[in-house]
Amino acid sequence: MGIVLSGGTIVTAADYYQADLRMEGEQITAIGHGIRQGSDQVLTVEGCFLFPGGIDPHTHFDLPVGQTVTADDFASGTKAALLGGTTTIIDFATQFKGETLALALANWHAKAGGKSYTDYGFHMAITEWNDRIAREMDRLVQEEGVSSFKFYLAYKNLLQVDDGVLLEALGRSKENGALICLHCENGDLVQRLVKDALAQGNRAPFHHALTRPSVAEREATARAISLAEAAQAPLYIVHLTCREALQGVVDAKVRGVEVFGETCPQYLLLDSSLYQGEGFEGAKYVMSPPLRSPHDQEALWHGLRAGVLDTVATDHCSFNYRGQKELGLEDFSKIPNGIPGVEHRMGLLYTYGVASGKIGINQFVALTATKPAQLFGLFPRKGTIAVGSDADIVVWDPWATSVITAPTQHQRVDYTPYEGFRQIGTAVHVFLRGRQVVCAGKISEEGPGGVYLHRKPFGKRG
Ligand code: URP
Ligand code: ZN
Ligand code: ZN
Repeated sequence: MGIVLSGGTIVTAADYYQADLRMEGEQITAIGHGIRQGSDQVLTVEGCFLFPGGIDPHTHFDLPVGQTVTADDFASGTKAALLGGTTTIIDFATQFKGETLALALANWHAKAGGKSYTDYGFHMAITEWNDRIAREMDRLVQEEGVSSFKFYLAYKNLLQVDDGVLLEALGRSKENGALICLHCENGDLVQRLVKDALAQGNRAPFHHALTRPSVAEREATARAISLAEAAQAPLYIVHLTCREALQGVVDAKVRGVEVFGETCPQYLLLDSSLYQGEGFEGAKYVMSPPLRSPHDQEALWHGLRAGVLDTVATDHCSFNYRGQKELGLEDFSKIPNGIPGVEHRMGLLYTYGVASGKIGINQFVALTATKPAQLFGLFPRKGTIAVGSDADIVVWDPWATSVITAPTQHQRVDYTPYEGFRQIGTAVHVFLRGRQVVCAGKISEEGPGGVYLHRKPFGKRG
């Protein structure tokens, strides 16, 4: 027995058309008219869009940071993701110093296995590099389905790597088919500015933004692009925030460099004035890179519209305001970095992008599903609506309205940076590999049904 979604409008990165959609087992089996078979269940979805399930390629669930751990684990984070229309996440498994990549990967499988409500994959964040790790990287691509690796040019003495390591990794990625993802801020500059600020007694959250200026991101982005260009390896820049860094990506793309850019709803919709909130309120927005100016937001929207930026991810990395962000009450540099957002990515981008005319509806699908699938080795299984693809479908009611507020969110954290934001449209029903996991805006799953996704190397299709 199959399920037929009848009367909706199918939207992909390229198409927009009215048709029925039939799924059976885990896949889409037919698209068209008159496709219903004898005992099929029919769900009428007139007036709704059918989007491919969202793919958030940047989350941090169950991540230890300093003396604490993110508020959302794989269960709470992926449940919230489903309710927002995201059916796949790619989380950053992290190699802490002294660990092999095999151990780090096993740790992340233990965190996610049997707990994830969405399908999931892992990037591997590498913080320590040597010949053995380089060989492990090859093995992860070939055997473990991990085909992307993150390096940090920031977080001095913790996660930061130098240019030599980055160059070696880029060279290796060209051989083994990995995609290098990069956090671009000049960590040495940030460290200098933080030391100076603290020495002058500047301890409030506002100084987080002042000590991580755009120039630190511009410099690191330009340097990384130059190294990728020299190594002739592709490069994916995570959480890009500012006009100058964006310009670096524009220039590189024009030169034919294979560089890809990701931004996040927070950089499109929130600005640095929030750091001046009363008392310690600014801590709610402490993330790296920090929020920028309205001028930067405008540039990022243009970057999305022009196709210069490739994906919109969340960098979901949630910490409660009470007890966790408060670790930095006396010193902004001790505030755990990161904010929640996985639940609201699709709604925010639809409302403030599509409904307000800043991006087209096909671009919305490309940014939230198709491009992440293509870049991270999941396409065409994920990221589109086509016969043979996984039946990951979001039935989107474009007429529903809501207001984001902490008491009604599903992310397991005591605030939302989008408090009071109006949303147009909602994921009314969601299907994951043919199973209805959200029904009328509520989780209809008995338990977590997500599976681990072995991802293909960069650039490989089929
Ligand atoms: O502040 C952030 N972005 N925290 C998460 C870790 C990272 O840098 O992506
Ligand atoms: Zn980062
Ligand atoms: Zn991140």
